Amino acid sequence: MSDLKGKKIFVTGGSRGIGSSIVKILAKKGATVAFTYSSREDSAAQLLSELLSLDSGAGHFYLQMDLAKEESVKSVVEQVLTKFIDIDGVVNNAGITKDGLLLRMKTEDFDSVIQTNLRGGFLVTKGFLKPMLKARKGSIVNITSVIGQTGNAGQANYAASKAGTEAFSKSIALEVASRNIRVNCIAPGFIATEMTQTLSEDVRKQILSKIPLERIAEPEEVAYAAAFLLSDESKYMTGQTLSVNGGMYMG
Ligand SMILES: NC(=O)c1ccc[n+]([C@@H]2O[C@H](COP(=O)([O-])OP(=O)(O)OC[C@H]3O[C@@H](n4cnc5c(N)ncnc54)[C@H](OP(=O)(O)O)[C@@H]3O)[C@@H](O)[C@H]2O)c1
Repeated sequence: MSDLKGKKIFVTGGSRGIGSSIVKILAKKGATVAFTYSSREDSAAQLLSELLSLDSGAGHFYLQMDLAKEESVKSVVEQVLTKFIDIDGVVNNAGITKDGLLLRMKTEDFDSVIQTNLRGGFLVTKGFLKPMLKARKGSIVNITSVIGQTGNAGQANYAASKAGTEAFSKSIALEVASRNIRVNCIAPGFIATEMTQTLSEDVRKQILSKIPLERIAEPEEVAYAAAFLLSDESKYMTGQTLSVNGGMYMG
């Protein structure tokens, strides 16, 4: 299933949570993976040592990147392309939340979520698109959210960034389909990572009551969907959003 042998794939925010699972699953399926961290180099180093013990070889590496800074993204793209000239896949996974009800939301909290999640994905995608266009191959996977599909009180900035990413992805899918490049999204529901750990017990119960499968998902469950979209098994899919949400939203 979802063989990724020989594929070179770049993943943002691989140091923990969903990104870390994506990196591990891709490497287990035979891909060589470059991934980024933002502040936690220790987690990135720990993950790399796990990867190096796999059969997929010693080509994996990580870099520091701040998605909110154009220069940082440009420099990472350049460095990745020196090793992955014929890059096969990109996963725009890294993302942040800065929640608050709108009347209390600071302009800088609105801006930083849009800048990191939406504009950051634009910068990464733009950077890797040229070599993909030249090679006439590629699969880009953008991690959005169920919140971008339904909206959520207290997350107007985050919801806008994720809905924006979906619309962005469909537009790019149309621009590059004729060159055999596919662009798809995965919209996770409620996944057990640090992003969701800080929620109060009440909010957690409220969310659980809205999930037909009656449980929070593990990050691996998102990673398997990413592996599928990066593999040739999904080669007739573009401009789509795969929902991995336990039935929380049926769009
Ligand atoms: N968890 C959920 O329930 C859920 C649901 C729907 C969608 N999602 C989406 O799935 C993706 C991953 O979420 P997660 O729960 O795994 O998040 P997480 O545990 O908070 O991890 C976030 C990752 O992004 C990196 N990062 C943070 N700020 C960054 C920046 N400014 N520039 C570059 N990288 C940055 C972090 O690096 P460091 O480790 O170095 O800080 C980390 O690797 C996000 O796009 C999120 O919106 C999550």
